[in-house]
Parts: sequence; structure tokens; C-alpha cells
Amino acid sequence: MAIQFDEKRNMFKLDTKCTTYLIGISKEGYVGHIYYGKRLKEFGGGYLLRTEEFPFTPEANKREKAAFLDVYPTEYPTGGLGDYRESCLDIRNSEGYMGSEIFYKEYLVEDGKPHLPGLPASFGEKDEVQTLQIICEDPILRMRVTLMYSVFEEEDIITRSVKIENQGEKALHLEKVYSACLDMDNQEFEMIDLCGSWARERYIQREKLRYGRQRVSSSRGESSHQEHPFMALVTPDTTQETGEVYAMHFVYSGNFTAQAERTQFDYVRMVLGICAEGFRWNLKAGESFQAPEVVLTYSAEGLGKMTRSFHDFYRKHLIRSPYLYKKRPILINNWEATYFDFNTEKLLAIAKGAKEQGIEMLVMDDGWFGKRNFDDSSLGDWTVNEEKLKGGLPHLVKQVRDLGMEFGIWFEPEMISPDSDLYRVHPDWAIQIPGREPGQIRAQYVLDLSRQEVRDYAYECVAKILRSAPISYVKWDMNRQLTDLGSIALLADAQGELSHRYMLGVYEMQERLVTEFPDLLLENCSGGGARFDPGMLYYSPQIWCSDDTDAIERLRIQEGTALIYPLSAMGAHVSDCPNHIVGRRTPFETRANVALAGTFGYELDITRISEEEKKQIPGQTALYHKYRELIQKGDYYRIASWTDKKSLDCWEVAAKDASHALVTCVQVLAQPNIHSRKIKLKGLDKEKTYRLEGSGEVYSGEELMYCGFLIKGLEGDFASRLYHFVREDVQEEEGPQ
Ligand code: GLA
Repeated sequence: MAIQFDEKRNMFKLDTKCTTYLIGISKEGYVGHIYYGKRLKEFGGGYLLRTEEFPFTPEANKREKAAFLDVYPTEYPTGGLGDYRESCLDIRNSEGYMGSEIFYKEYLVEDGKPHLPGLPASFGEKDEVQTLQIICEDPILRMRVTLMYSVFEEEDIITRSVKIENQGEKALHLEKVYSACLDMDNQEFEMIDLCGSWARERYIQREKLRYGRQRVSSSRGESSHQEHPFMALVTPDTTQETGEVYAMHFVYSGNFTAQAERTQFDYVRMVLGICAEGFRWNLKAGESFQAPEVVLTYSAEGLGKMTRSFHDFYRKHLIRSPYLYKKRPILINNWEATYFDFNTEKLLAIAKGAKEQGIEMLVMDDGWFGKRNFDDSSLGDWTVNEEKLKGGLPHLVKQVRDLGMEFGIWFEPEMISPDSDLYRVHPDWAIQIPGREPGQIRAQYVLDLSRQEVRDYAYECVAKILRSAPISYVKWDMNRQLTDLGSIALLADAQGELSHRYMLGVYEMQERLVTEFPDLLLENCSGGGARFDPGMLYYSPQIWCSDDTDAIERLRIQEGTALIYPLSAMGAHVSDCPNHIVGRRTPFETRANVALAGTFGYELDITRISEEEKKQIPGQTALYHKYRELIQKGDYYRIASWTDKKSLDCWEVAAKDASHALVTCVQVLAQPNIHSRKIKLKGLDKEKTYRLEGSGEVYSGEELMYCGFLIKGLEGDFASRLYHFVREDVQEEEGPQ
């Protein structure tokens, strides 16, 4: 049993393979946090709630209740009554007073996991996950708060979410609803988060946790390029293999706040949820609000274990697509090849050249609709531009398919250009504040997807095109943040609901898409990687990682992304040089080796690259076929980080049965007068021997893991190499060395 209730001690014990989470109920009914850490067999009692220490407990001395609330380690802090640390729930009643307090009522344990209506969320079979609901009430507000914990034993993951129900007769106004809280004692924690910008997404950042509040947050209407809905607190000794790690990640794609706070008593509170800035939700009598899910993990074995827990969990319990472990067609995308300047002939020339080299799908990017010859018009007018695509889309798709290739297409369904027929007819469909001209970003506005008729229109535009021809793949883009938050369809006191309603609208549209087109391969995208988050992964098995396709820039971006996301989710392509974003020239081979750590594809004009590069493509696509299954399903290990140590960049993917492992090494800058560099492999069988493919060398698993392997002979800047170690009892595989 993953979840147990000890009636005598009023305590819940949640166990995963390696962790235990303990929740206690104080005499007054406050739901308290006792412990999260290494798995325990037994636990004596709730002494860690420290209810015997000053300030006195409310039951013993009501005079000190406020001070008590400010130190009690709680599972879900509510605001306004004395807990001055960050609250998770702020509510005003219909008279405008703020303050709430929730007391334990009852609990429910069930096998499996209920859906979260309208939201992306993890799932599992009855024998894979158990769910605890702790039902609490605020008797004054007549509000019920259900704290939900789903325990995924095998993956060492606990997910949390919260439901608020108004059981009274008057409306309640939610001003903040976070999804999870973790109160702990400080352990000299350091905070890890992912930060960045356009073309620099998800850089790993690590800082000592100071007194006060340190947060990452987005109020951009998307999870964003700049900050990421993830936070880890780690003990100072934490490396890939050592140290304690507490991590939270949000299954949501809109505004968020993740915060760690070190308090006066050296306690730490970590919270995550929808960003409260600008948020307000009217909860009418009888209504409920479901907050999105937080994924929580603890590792006593450093960051590597955290990474692999997230990878396994997302692969098994979040990504629904049938493509998860399937071979995905190797694509060529025309964006960096042509930008807006293309027509049927040009696309067919690319497709033909690509097919000859073993590429399997042509993706037509932005510019095929309306009169879009630049980025300043036509979003919303999803009719094929027949001046560019003579004979129409079905004709083009047929010709591509006749070549033996599949066809994919780009959309940006959430947007409306001021210069579009749609805007001329429905100017009010853009998100805006009446009386104020909305700000443009990339010459476009955002559609008000809180409105059903707008969603229906936008969805039908996409669906109509997909119904018109056999299209295998969609790149769903979203190229600007939300501003000027106003919807003419919402009442004055509901305007604060717009950002969340927008997100629910996007989720509804993507749900419709994957339901109507179950075989479609969907790739989400947002100006590169501004909406690379677990929310989107629920709909699409892959997300475009970044508009920066330079192999060296990608090392850092993909290292940060792979800290939490499986490699199978990272959209990565080989592009042309000099790179369009940074102007760097890197070897074609290195570009492919780096893209192999993701979905793998091409983004270049194959009719214009050198013969020498073209000749390398069949070998590269063969590598994809050879290693695809390993990369999709294997265990990822970060071996060395160029970003961190400026020596070598290196990662490994080992098969779960330790039968083989692929190691990728990139020498970023060549260094003078150095010896070979030693790396230690992971995830092998120490009792067995491994041959290094293509070399005749044989090593024991234990020497590769404990003594190390020498990286030699990498010549020049940006040089890279793949090393494939195969256990000796495994048959030699066909394919390139
Ligand atoms: C975004 C995407 C790119 C490309 C362009 C098209 O920036 O990230 O890959 O699709 O839009 O406008």
C-alpha cells in the first residue's frame, strides 16, 4: 500500500520506492507537514510538527494563535490570519474581507488517479498510482478544500493539486490558489531554476538560498522563455550523484510562481502554483475551482536521480501520444531554408533532395496562407495562398507523398494579425482593454480563447486544413506573450480570470485536435521554447526546444531542458552554417550528433548545401534509426558540462537493461597542451564486459564506471564524437560505426 493512515497518531504515510512523505493532523485539525525524504519503515509520531514548542498551540492558549500559524509546518497555508510566510490560498468573502483557515474533515484513498477536468495531468493504472484526498473545511467561509496527493511508487513521484468548493450561498473571490507547498527545515539549501530568453531557453541557475523570498515567475500568459515552472532545493554537496534534492514542476503552460522562502526560524517554505499577479477568480455559490497539478520528487542521490525520475514519469504517466516510443519521421522543415519566400516548386525541390538522402517528411512552415509574405499579416486567415502553392494544398501534399514522403504543416492558431480579414470582421476577438489600443508583438494580437465561438473558429481553421489532405504532422506555434488583458465577454469582476481561461481554451483546442486526429504527430512550439512545459507535453510528445539551432548554443539549452524532460520530447534539428542566430560555423557532424539527443530532423535548404555535407546525411539518418529506441527509452546521464566546467560536454544514454550505451562528447573549444580527458560512464553492468563499437576495444563495466574511459583525439573547435558501448553478450548490430 503506497498510502497508509495511522488512526492512533492521526498521520498519513505516503511511500514510493525510495521516499516517504508524512502528513500529520494537529489536535485542532491543522493539516501539517512532518517529513519528506528517504523511505522510512516506521515512524513514531508527529513530534516534528513541534506543537509543544513556543508559541503555544491554539488549543492550549488561543492568545498566541497567530504566532503559532506563522511557524506551523503546514501542508497548505491560507492567508490573512497570521501565517506571514507565503500563503497558497487567498480568498475574499462577498463583503471583501480576506482570511481563511482550513481544518481537517475526512480523507479518501483510491487506487488510480482521477482526471483534473479541463487540465492536462498525469495518469496511471490502478496498480501504478494511488490517490489520497484530504478534505478540509473553512466553516466560516463554508468552503471545502481538497488536497490531492497521487503517489507513483515506481517513479518516486508524488503529484499534488487542490480543489476549492464554495458550499455557501454567497460568492467567494479567489485571489491566489497555488497547488503545492513544502515546509522544511533549512539545510543550507541552494536553489536551482531554469532561466533564459528567446534563443537562450532553460539555462541552469544555482544560487544559495538567502533569508527572504526568492522566486521565479511568469505573468506573460505562457510558461515563458525567461523563467520556468520548475524549482529544486538542493543541499550544498549536491552533484549528479550526491546530495538531497527536493524538486517541483508544474503541469501548466500559463502564468506561474515558484518560490522558496527562508524564514526567521530557518525554516524553508517552497510553493508552486498559478501566478497570483493579475489573477482573480469568482467562485459563485456551488462552484468549484480546480488548480493544476504539481509534480514533486525527492532524491537522496543527487540531480541525476531527480532527472531520471522526471524522465520516467513523463514518459510513462504524462505523454499520451502514440508516438511516444514510435519512430517519428525524420523531417525537413523549410523555415530556415526559405523563411516566407517559397512556392510549390521550391518546396518540392527540397522534398526531392531530402528524400534522396533518407529524410522522410517535409514540413511546410510559416507563410503558406492568406497573403503572408512577411510576419506582419494574415494570422487568422487560414486559407491557402494559391499564388505560392499553385494547385492548392492537396496537390502539394499529393506530390510530396508521391515522392514517398510524409507531409507536415505549421499553424499559429491562437493569433490574429491586425492586417487580416478576420480582424477586419471581428476586431473584438483580439484580447484587449476597450478604449486602449492593444500593444502588438511581432505585429500580432492574441485571440480571446476564453470565448467558445473564437475557439470554435480557430479550431475549425486547423481541422479543415487537416481534413483536406493526408497531413501527418502539425507544428502548433504561439509567437507572442499576452498583454492588454481584457475580454469583452467577461464581466467586470471576472476580468482577472482571463489568463487562466485562455489557457483552458488552448487545452480544450488541443484536446479536440488529438481526439479528432489521433494519428497526428503534434509538435508544440512558442517562438522557440517559450511554452516547453509539462502542460503541453500532455498533448504533444515533442516540443520545439529553441529557435537557436546552433549546435554549441544547443548544448546549454538541451542540458537545461534534459534536466527535467526526456530527450524524446526535445525538438532538435540540423541547420545550416553560418548559423542564422549566432553566425557560428560548426562541423556538420557535430550538428547531427547534438540533434540526435532530441527528436532529430533538418532545417536547411538541402538544394544549396555542399555535396560534402549532403553526402553525410544518409549516415546521419542511419544513426537516428540505429539509436532512436535507446534515446527514446533509455536512462539519461549528464557526464560533463561544458557550461559548468569549460572542459568537455558529455552525456550518455544507457539502455535500462544495461545492454548498451551511447556516449556523446563535444569538445567546445580545443585546448592546447592537454592530455586525454577521463569520463566515468554510468548505468552499465559492472559484472559484464562491453566492446566499444568500431574499435576492437573491450572494457569491463566496472572499469568504465569506476576507473573511467579516455576521450582522445578530438581535433579542433566544436569537434564531437559518439561512442557506442555494447555488452559483449549482445549481438553485433547492423548500422554505422
Ligand atoms: C517561431 C518558431 C519558428 C518558426 C517561426 C515562423 O519563431 O519558433 O520555428 O516556425 O515562428 O514564424
